[in-house]
Amino acid sequence: MRQSDWERVIEAAMGPASRYLKSLPHRPVYRPTDPDEIRSLVGGPLPEEGTSPQEVVAALAQDLEPFLASHASGRYFGFVIGGLHPAAYGAELLVSTWDQNAGLYAVAPGVSVVEEVAAGWLLDLLQLPRDASVGFVTGGQMANFTCLAAARHQVLRDAGWDVEADGLQGAPKVHVVVKTERHSTIPRALRYLGLGEATAVEVPCDDQSRIDIDALEEVLTGLEGPTVVCVESGDINTGSFDPFHAVADAAERHRERGNPTWVHADGAVGLWARVSQTHRHLAEGLERLDSWSTDAHKLLNCGYDSGIAITRHPGAHRAAMSVQTPYLIHADGDVRDPMDWNPEFSRRARGVGVYAAIRSLGRTGVADIVDRTCSLAKRFADRLADSDRAEVMNEVVFNQVLVQWLSPDGDHDAFNDRVVACIQADGTAFLSGTNWGGMRLMRISVSDWATDDNDVDRAIEAMLRCADTA
Ligand SMILES: Cc1ncc(COP(=O)(O)O)c(C=O)c1O
Repeated sequence: MRQSDWERVIEAAMGPASRYLKSLPHRPVYRPTDPDEIRSLVGGPLPEEGTSPQEVVAALAQDLEPFLASHASGRYFGFVIGGLHPAAYGAELLVSTWDQNAGLYAVAPGVSVVEEVAAGWLLDLLQLPRDASVGFVTGGQMANFTCLAAARHQVLRDAGWDVEADGLQGAPKVHVVVKTERHSTIPRALRYLGLGEATAVEVPCDDQSRIDIDALEEVLTGLEGPTVVCVESGDINTGSFDPFHAVADAAERHRERGNPTWVHADGAVGLWARVSQTHRHLAEGLERLDSWSTDAHKLLNCGYDSGIAITRHPGAHRAAMSVQTPYLIHADGDVRDPMDWNPEFSRRARGVGVYAAIRSLGRTGVADIVDRTCSLAKRFADRLADSDRAEVMNEVVFNQVLVQWLSPDGDHDAFNDRVVACIQADGTAFLSGTNWGGMRLMRISVSDWATDDNDVDRAIEAMLRCADTA
């Protein structure tokens, strides 16, 4: 490829990219689509002959633009989807351009050191032990997997078993304790790890989906042997936080009874509370646990995909993840090989976006995103409650709001689904539904650095319009 060819392809990509980003405040946030419409544009038989790279890129940009969900819009409130901070975006463009295989320092020295710096900054930001280990992974799912792989290693090693060498066949039983309201990525990680999702012991939750601490104590008292407990910092529905000091105390007592014990916190949504003076109290005690997962593509507003696995036990983390083989060049101790801390071999330098976001925002900027999104969640909750058309079902302690639309005919569940479908079709904002407490509800998640009062008010207007007509 000649220099001019690179320029043409960059132009073909960056022109539409720039137009797309500028259109975010005005374009519909979402529109229901027909997959056949998309297939008719991008499908067809395998091409026998080639097409120039710039033509392919230009066609892709043009064909797909109408079918993009505007995740980086300030009015995307579905699931827990963060926006796109410009520094993280710019860094990701460079990461794509540099095409570094960031598994080993020797293969990609520059980005490996950037990830090392980002890891240190994260521990400082999140106020976690400075000698904790950090892995940059694709998201909360793989962060939970990585942390639980380290947990599996440690509790079995403490029971005299080498799970990496000998697997689980014949191993001492690992008791896994989860909340009834855990995120679905926890059982999925247990499945990947051969620990089984159905064999986990479930502990009930209170009316805000926080773990019932007395029930946890009781469950732990009845267990003997290696134990992994999974708790949550930021519930997917309510945004609630488990009582971490009480969990750490219960785990300590379990350990003192002779049981190898590891407590993991899924902090995809709420580990970021620790950055904010205002919200830090919610996540107090987390620092006493053994591992923490979070998402940089949620409140840090890095691009998709970007998750982080952190553990207090670098030895266990590394034992669970690393691999050595003669044809590679492994670091000799002074530098960090990213591959030692994540499940991939070849990998994208995901930590570079994290580095750029933190460097651009600083501690105060990250705290500001946390505080602003949480205060906008409260604005939603207060205004919707005042409307008399809806009831807010959770204590809005963080960035999540659970709403029940009140149907005149009393069938609130069906009405909620109709209101949510209407909002999605309207395109002003994107919201999604959930089942919680035996009800169909609408979830609001404010997770975008770009969301402001006006976005919230426009979304509420659209919701109320839909509540009138659905
Ligand atoms: C509490 C929790 N854990 C895990 C995940 C999964 O994260 P990811 O989609 O980044 O894999 C989510 C996603 O919303 C979450 O809210």
